[in-house]
Amino acid sequence: MIDNPNIPQAVRAVAADGTQLRYALMEMAREMEDIITLGRGDPDLPTPPHIIEAANRAMRDGLTGATHVKGMPSLRQAIAEHMRAVNGLALEADNVMVTTGGQEGLFLAVQAVINPGDEILVPDPRYSSYDDAIKRAGGRMVMVPTERDDAFNLEAEAVEAAITPATKALLIVTPSNPTAGIVTEDRLRAIAEVAIRHNLIVIVDEIYGKIVYPPWRHFSIGALPGMAERVITLDAFSKAYAMTGWRCGYVAAPADVIDAMARIKQVTTGPVATVSQWAGLAALTGPQDCVGEYLDIYIQRRAVLLAGLDRMGFAYGEPRGGLFVWADSSSTGIHAAELSYLLLKEGRVLIFPGTAFGEQWRDYVRITMLEPIETLSAAVERMLPVLERYRI
Ligand SMILES: Cc1ncc(COP(=O)(O)O)c(C=O)c1O
Repeated sequence: MIDNPNIPQAVRAVAADGTQLRYALMEMAREMEDIITLGRGDPDLPTPPHIIEAANRAMRDGLTGATHVKGMPSLRQAIAEHMRAVNGLALEADNVMVTTGGQEGLFLAVQAVINPGDEILVPDPRYSSYDDAIKRAGGRMVMVPTERDDAFNLEAEAVEAAITPATKALLIVTPSNPTAGIVTEDRLRAIAEVAIRHNLIVIVDEIYGKIVYPPWRHFSIGALPGMAERVITLDAFSKAYAMTGWRCGYVAAPADVIDAMARIKQVTTGPVATVSQWAGLAALTGPQDCVGEYLDIYIQRRAVLLAGLDRMGFAYGEPRGGLFVWADSSSTGIHAAELSYLLLKEGRVLIFPGTAFGEQWRDYVRITMLEPIETLSAAVERMLPVLERYRI
């Protein structure tokens, strides 16, 4: 616990409750003008034109009727081929279902696998939607620690140490939201051995899998020997193709797991909007240059942001993939909760504190790269004097 005499008592009081603070910050931001918000999670870049054109064409051609609940056969086939070619998964179209974004894939995967009383291992910190999906299924989330010094990579020993007789599954997210860490191939190989030894199902969220910063590379645990029958791989068009609002994603899993998920989907959301499926088909089968171009933009933004954080004296694990930097402010002598309040009040920069990803992450902030470089640079210039005023 840092005791920083520069932080006014009133600020400490507001910052004390992580959940309330988030609402307090949003409330304050509404009353203020000229705020830079570095909290968003959906790409600010436009959906590439050839994808929009494919959706337009589908509408013009009257291709607007509902599809099978698991998705259009042509799209399921294209997903299977793409995941075979790019991720090395041994898949057929039967192993694929199109979902309403990554969010639904995640929710359905957890409902299909977890029964009341089952434990599921989740890396700490985590994307908080996992909590709700697990709670709905009656499962218990058991956290597996990850460390900044290890760039928030996941360790097989840490996974194995958290296993009990009630452990049913392991959830992996690579690259991670919020940490921007990836789980490297060597670690995934060791984790796969643990999963096989303890008969665990592995749900792997690869929604940021196409946004990995060289020389790091994305690797799919489902491609390893003995894993096809126990891995559910989630992906979506939302991040790599800047298609968050199209609500189109997919899961790949053993056919009986796909059937179990489809039964729930049938009575909840039904098939994904047909126009969005045509857009998804164009994204996967069309030119992939847009993915590389967007990655280049994120690489430049990341450089600006990291240089700024270095100037401010933040510590962070190397962001190896995804769209965020997960930074520790404690080296400046200011807790992240207090800092996020001060940054908004005095710097007009809105950044949510890390407690949204686990109560104990009081020293962390998740800063997004989803603004143009000029905006990120301006945010850094606004933040620096606030840091100088309060650091110890
Ligand atoms: C790790 C992770 N998984 C899944 C999702 C859900 O994505 P979608 O917008 O496709 O529903 C998100 C969204 O931010 C995410 O960060």
